[in-house]
Amino acid sequence: MAKRKTVADIIKMKQAGEKITMLTAYDAAMAAMLYDADVDVLLVGDSLGMVVLGYDSTVPVTMDEMIHHASAVRRGSASAFVVGDMPFGSYQSGVRDAIVNGTRFLKEAGCDAVKLEGGLEVCETVEALIRAGISVIGHIGLTPQTATQLGGYKVQGRDVESARKIIEEARALEKAGVFALVLECIPDELGKIVSEEIAIPTIGIGAGVHCDGQVLVTHDLLGMFDKFIPSFVKTYCTLAPSIKDAVLEYNSEVRNGSYPDKEHSFRGESNLRELLGL
Ligand code: KIV
Repeated sequence: MAKRKTVADIIKMKQAGEKITMLTAYDAAMAAMLYDADVDVLLVGDSLGMVVLGYDSTVPVTMDEMIHHASAVRRGSASAFVVGDMPFGSYQSGVRDAIVNGTRFLKEAGCDAVKLEGGLEVCETVEALIRAGISVIGHIGLTPQTATQLGGYKVQGRDVESARKIIEEARALEKAGVFALVLECIPDELGKIVSEEIAIPTIGIGAGVHCDGQVLVTHDLLGMFDKFIPSFVKTYCTLAPSIKDAVLEYNSEVRNGSYPDKEHSFRGESNLRELLGL
């Protein structure tokens, strides 16, 4: 088994000019496949709520749901670097709650770090988490938990004033101690500037090619979630239609009696009825 990556290993990747790959995972089976495919970081994102649990947004996701799924990812992914996403309400109510919930990700789910959304308003929380021994990834630009305050799921930082705010937030979060920073839905030129302005790695999602790494929702890149596909998503394969075709074939074989055939059945005594005296 490969040695588990550390925060220092991830920071070093930026220094060495190596791009970081991050993908979401919510269960042990997918985590094992992503780990086998050499993904650098597995994120148990609160996108769990929309992709797996059927909520309309990430807001309803609870800490217990996150711990349940993060534990499964840990069990399935051997020595992967696993990050737990702090759900809405788990850190906004104060530093103490943030530490209690961040600690749960490490102790109960075996995560290596946590991620939380927000700019200047979360810097004090980030500092407190780090003092408590919890490594933190920041997340700015489009922050889905507060998307309604940002006018919906929209590209952020398009004008000079909002671009400057994002650069200031990135600098402040780096100073507060985050070891990496997710940049979501910002113009690629701004992604480049932020990546040059801070020493820690930037992980882009809809933030252009100049970020130090990229993250996507795995179900999006595999074509398994078609409710809403953001324009920055590249669908590398389309599993949803293949799954539907396979299930239609199963239905029809069960209904016409051709499944299970001999090859997929167990054989015991050939004269069982006789032996049982029936
Ligand atoms: O919840 C999530 O999946 C995320 C990533 C898309 C960055 O926060």
